[in-house]
Amino acid sequence: MKIFVTGGAGFIGGNFIHFMLTKYPDTKIVCLDSLTYAGNLSTLKSVETNTNLQFIKIDITDRKGIFSLFEAEKPNVVVNFAAESHVDRSIENPDIFLKTNILGTQVLLDACRKYGTERFHQISTDEVYGDLPLDRPDLLFKEDTPIQTSSPYSASKASADLLVQAYHRTFGVPVTISRCSNNYGPYQFPEKLIPLTIINILAGKPLPIYGTGQNVRDWLHVDDHCAAVDLILNKGNIGEIYNIGGHNERSNIEVVKTIIEILGKGQELITYVSDRKGHDLRYAINPAKIQNDMGWKPTTSFEEGIEKTIAWYLDNRKWWEEIISGEYQTYYSKMYGKR
Ligand code: NAD
Ligand code: TYD
Repeated sequence: MKIFVTGGAGFIGGNFIHFMLTKYPDTKIVCLDSLTYAGNLSTLKSVETNTNLQFIKIDITDRKGIFSLFEAEKPNVVVNFAAESHVDRSIENPDIFLKTNILGTQVLLDACRKYGTERFHQISTDEVYGDLPLDRPDLLFKEDTPIQTSSPYSASKASADLLVQAYHRTFGVPVTISRCSNNYGPYQFPEKLIPLTIINILAGKPLPIYGTGQNVRDWLHVDDHCAAVDLILNKGNIGEIYNIGGHNERSNIEVVKTIIEILGKGQELITYVSDRKGHDLRYAINPAKIQNDMGWKPTTSFEEGIEKTIAWYLDNRKWWEEIISGEYQTYYSKMYGKR
């Protein structure tokens, strides 16, 4: 069995590679990643000598290169994590989101079609459903909730999902799609809320809360996401979409206060800043389909997961100190300087 994992030097793809190498000693993993600002080979350092893992630096929009690789390696399965993933960056510069997230997915689908790949799995997001109101806790995203995107990021991910479905219906490419809620855990790039909060607290820097801090996200530990994707690869029905989430809704301010408390600090660093443009109010997944069809359920509670994640950032300073020493500083001043 040979699996192409695109975006495997990023947060979730990297965790997925660790998960798969541990669980399947007979599976070969080829990581395809162009190493953008969000891709870090240090995420794969502890497995770099594993003979089941091969790394290839390649852009998924490089049609010629991707086709040569499929020709040479003939993967059984492709799991597409590669994407531009940060909403704030998509508001600053949508172009690269459309290129990587839509056209890159199309290149991979074309290659799967040509080389008869047994499965193409698209890692999508709950953000394709837009948002839910804060005062209707009864409403949750189901797989048939209409797509209604808010940001260039979510619009690009939704476009990719539509292409994936079209390639299944028109060309018979054997696809599955999963739409997960917000992930947290080790190796998450510090621009996202949870690692940004941990690292800023450690540095004594302000904790920027967009708007009122009442926006709600549905948090899932990355290991539970990886287990769900593995299950879909083994038991999912071709052509189907699966929502992934663990009923773990928290407002942003609650999340930040929890992290402050675990690190034993005071709340004086909390700083309300101007809101994100088009800021989605609430995400909440109904995971009944994957639970009922495949028996998936999350194993890490938020209380346990956030403690473990904070401990990981404390124990792995080198990983994130290297990352925040470079381009991240320029990004940070640009995004937060005048907020
Ligand atoms: P990330 O930004 O941490 O990692 C993305 C990876 O893709 C990086 O290693 C980067 O180098 C690589 N990449 C980017 N453009 C590429 C290109 N053109 N060619 C090859 N590689 C490229 O992202 P993440 O948070 O790990 O998210 C992974 C996937 O999961 C994305 O598709 C995202 O939409 C989806 N997702 C993320 C979350 C979340 O909470 N982070 C939730 C649901 C879904
Ligand atoms: P983020 O981690 O960027 O994920 P997403 O936008 O994909 O949900 O943001 C999570 C939530 O936290 C979102 O409502 C925006 C908010 N947020 C802040 O309040 N301050 C910050 O500095 C960041 C990065 C996010």
